Amino acid sequence: MLLTAGPTYEPIDPVRFIGNHSTGKMGFALAECFAQHGAQVQVIAGPTHMQATHPAITVTAVTTADEMYAAVKELAPWADIWVFAAAVADYKPKVVSDRKIKKSGNALTIELVKNVDIAAALGKEKREDQFAVGFALETDNESSNAREKLQKKNLNMIVLNSLNDPGAGFKHDTNKITIIERDAATAFELKQKSQVAQDIVNLIWERLYA
Ligand code: CTP
Repeated sequence: MLLTAGPTYEPIDPVRFIGNHSTGKMGFALAECFAQHGAQVQVIAGPTHMQATHPAITVTAVTTADEMYAAVKELAPWADIWVFAAAVADYKPKVVSDRKIKKSGNALTIELVKNVDIAAALGKEKREDQFAVGFALETDNESSNAREKLQKKNLNMIVLNSLNDPGAGFKHDTNKITIIERDAATAFELKQKSQVAQDIVNLIWERLYA
């Protein structure tokens, strides 16, 4: 299986970047869990302090969304399951300065251009025998936004985290999720991320192998 994890960093100049608060915790917890179920796991990870412990996990470290996409594209045809747990930056600076940008004036504008949507791009190439899982972190219209992403990215399953739930999301060791499929929605209690990973893997296994 193939799994993306962590944030991406999009460089502005040699010392600055655009990033986000993703730690990679959820992605690496999932990788461990899949490996414990007997899967060979390829993790494509953005900048993170997380490390894999199970010998069946191989980690490829990347920095930007473009690098993550290149690594994922290469491995995707060989994987039965794709899990997109990375918090990919939606935009990147149009121009990356090769020199440090010096302070001048009272305001600075950086033009951003859209990054590749890795899950959506892969969704277009997904075969019938492949199973894709995405994540959605929402603050408003949670369910309908998640369902829209399920369709647009051609996912089989989307794991919805609401930022409105205390203890869920970035920087917490706990998470509260609802797993949305085309014709089902399963809500789980607030749990440790390792247990959340177990719930996700169990449901994927049920759908694929039960
Ligand atoms: N994703 C991705 N590549 C991107 C953006 C998102 O692969 N450039 C994946 C994420 O890993 C996640 C899912 O798509 O599994 C949803 O990510 P999210 O950021 O919530 O959705 P967006 O499509 O970026 O929508 P928005 O930020 O507008 O809510």
